[in-house]
Amino acid sequence: MRIALLTGGGDSSAINAAIRAVVCKALSEGFEIIGIKRGWRGLVYDEVEPLFRGSVSGIIQRGGTILGTSRHNPFKTESGLENIMSNLRKHGIDAIIAIGGDDTNGVAHRLAEYGVKCVGVPQTIDNDLRGTDYSIGFDTAVAVATDALDKLHTTAFSHHRIMVLEVMGRDAGWIALISGIAGGADVILIPEVPFTLEEVISRIEKRHKANKHFSIIVVSEGAKPAGQEEQFVQDQKKDPFGHVRLGGIGNWLAAQIEEKTAYETRVTHLGHLQRGGVPTVTDRVLATRLGAYAVDMIGQGDFDHMACMRSGEVVSVPYDEIVGEVKNVDLKLYELSKLFF
Ligand code: F6P
Repeated sequence: MRIALLTGGGDSSAINAAIRAVVCKALSEGFEIIGIKRGWRGLVYDEVEPLFRGSVSGIIQRGGTILGTSRHNPFKTESGLENIMSNLRKHGIDAIIAIGGDDTNGVAHRLAEYGVKCVGVPQTIDNDLRGTDYSIGFDTAVAVATDALDKLHTTAFSHHRIMVLEVMGRDAGWIALISGIAGGADVILIPEVPFTLEEVISRIEKRHKANKHFSIIVVSEGAKPAGQEEQFVQDQKKDPFGHVRLGGIGNWLAAQIEEKTAYETRVTHLGHLQRGGVPTVTDRVLATRLGAYAVDMIGQGDFDHMACMRSGEVVSVPYDEIVGEVKNVDLKLYELSKLFF
């Protein structure tokens, strides 16, 4: 059995831990393993390298992906599918393990229609993949955001300011919600629940009346005010999966707060810091378990499925139940978060 391994889409901190697990498990099963460089792009343009135990030595604590990544969509590339099929034949590849988010796994699912045998591993800091409680990279991103909130707290307190932290989260507000709870944010704004400025300002005013002269707001990049159709975008350019670059809600919010109140407001964009750094213990162990299980799934012929973490158990879930739709935050948890301001 010869397995190809690729990592696609936006990166995160614990992908290398998953690569290491896939390689070590595959070799221990007597399988051969070939690394595809920079996601689906590498399979289209034939950029591959064999992987050995030595290739994954000392990488568990290293952020990013040793294989590289891209947002390449072979179904939007001329001869993309034909090239994939011929490169699979050329290298004698029997099955593919794809580590990534909805776009990467969506391509794997589509390839099943052409007889390609794929198994997925969930990796996205947004944690918005259905089927799995957690995706690789999310825990580390939340730790980064929580650390930022802790730091913003002290300076907000000193200056009597409102601090707005804009975090990633395109269609689901997992990073904002979980870091907001852990970091004691006073207002949490997420894509799932449109907000009004009145609500936001009233919470800030209530704090001031209670002699709390500062406030912390954490907002997902994809959040929007009630009644506004479009999310805030950096520009109109779309990636090969049709996504525009989000961003700007934090600045807008800060300007509105300063205009409508007497409170000085500052904005921090956490941006790609959320995607880098040393992975947390939780992420390393999650990546290790999911990566090794993906190899088991291949051994069992469990294709067109993704390795998922559900209630502490690693299970196999059909792609049909996963790709194409977003896993939203738990709204009960969001309600709970509103207790604290
Ligand atoms: O896909 C995850 C994500 O982190 C989104 O939250 C964000 O909108 C996007 O990636 C940004 O990605 P990039 O800057 O790599 O295009």
